[in-house]
Amino acid sequence: MSASLQELQALEASSQVPAYARMPVQFVRGEGPWLWDDEGQAYLDFQTGLAVTSLGHSHPAVVAAIREQAERLVHVGNLFYTEPGLRLAQRLAAGSLGGRVHFANSGTEANEAALKMARKAKQGGDVVSVHRGFHGRTYGSLSATPQEAKQAPFAPLVPGFFAVEPDPSVLEAVIGPNTAAVILEPVQGEGGVWVLPDELLRVARERCDAVGATLIFDEVQCGLGRTGSLWAYQQTPVVPDLLTTAKALGGGLPIGALITGPRLAEGFAPGDHGSTFAGGPIACSAALAVLDVVEDPALLAAVSERGAWLRAALTDLPGVAQVRGRGLMLAFDLDPAAGISAPDLVLRALQEQHLVLNATGPATVRLLPPLTIGPDEAAEAVGRLAALLS
Ligand SMILES: Cc1ncc(COP(=O)(O)O)c(C=O)c1O
Repeated sequence: MSASLQELQALEASSQVPAYARMPVQFVRGEGPWLWDDEGQAYLDFQTGLAVTSLGHSHPAVVAAIREQAERLVHVGNLFYTEPGLRLAQRLAAGSLGGRVHFANSGTEANEAALKMARKAKQGGDVVSVHRGFHGRTYGSLSATPQEAKQAPFAPLVPGFFAVEPDPSVLEAVIGPNTAAVILEPVQGEGGVWVLPDELLRVARERCDAVGATLIFDEVQCGLGRTGSLWAYQQTPVVPDLLTTAKALGGGLPIGALITGPRLAEGFAPGDHGSTFAGGPIACSAALAVLDVVEDPALLAAVSERGAWLRAALTDLPGVAQVRGRGLMLAFDLDPAAGISAPDLVLRALQEQHLVLNATGPATVRLLPPLTIGPDEAAEAVGRLAALLS
């Protein structure tokens, strides 16, 4: 396949429902933190497909795992036993909440499973989320994602979902006897990379315990080493009842998972919930290879160290008003005096500096580099940004 960008744009215009606003680049190859376009030009990838290719592109261990499994068995479904999924479930549960795992194919589906399990446990009840949260696009997850532009065209949403300010006293007041679940991202991603305060998480935990509600942490974006610990909750004083993951789990293949603590380890019975592809052997083999890399304490320490360096370096850039985040999940707000919007900066970074970034809003630029970047690549990205902002 060797179509030009213009040919692909014409195909898109004639054949694809226009749900995406793509950047005008065709990528044809990736290796580590680098991507190459169809003209052979290299780009430094600080977006990683939105926190998916966390080990860099085509990590050799992930590629080998996919190839080996594809040659042996691609799919049989959940009516039979296959080893990769059961090994992966054991590893995920043992490395986090200690309960059990239910597989999905994406982040939004992992959250659907969590929401269904929480409501089943309470035999109904309300779901509470907070502003700036993002949990996905299917109806349950969307109903917990309080953004007018994303929700309004698809009304009516699922009843019984409420969103409040991420403020401890507000959350404390809203969680009551009829609450089935509270769903939070310990570090909010799509909302612009906001680390939720420990106090908010503590209040959520205490109130959920008091009323018999389920505390769900959505770690679809902030989990799997992104913040410098395997799971983001491990840097907070709170352990959730349910944890959801996806994005980086499959090293680029679609997979999601709901991980339970002991209380909800049998939160579904046969027939309650399921998915044809979930827990398939190729995606699970890739995920086992990903875990081998991200569970390494040396890698996690490097994420924290590199993140701290990047954070300080970004703070020193002209036109940068505020830097937020934890580990290698970072964002900065542009000072209005910088005279450029975040989407424009991201486009110019791509075209002029061959640096791949992402804008989460009109003034916020997000950085999600591979967890494996070295000091030279971090400095290179900052240098390219500095060239644009100076
Ligand atoms: C925190 C969080 N939850 C859920 C999702 C939805 O994941 P997916 O796009 O795989 O459905 C995302 C995607 O950006 C996310 O960041």
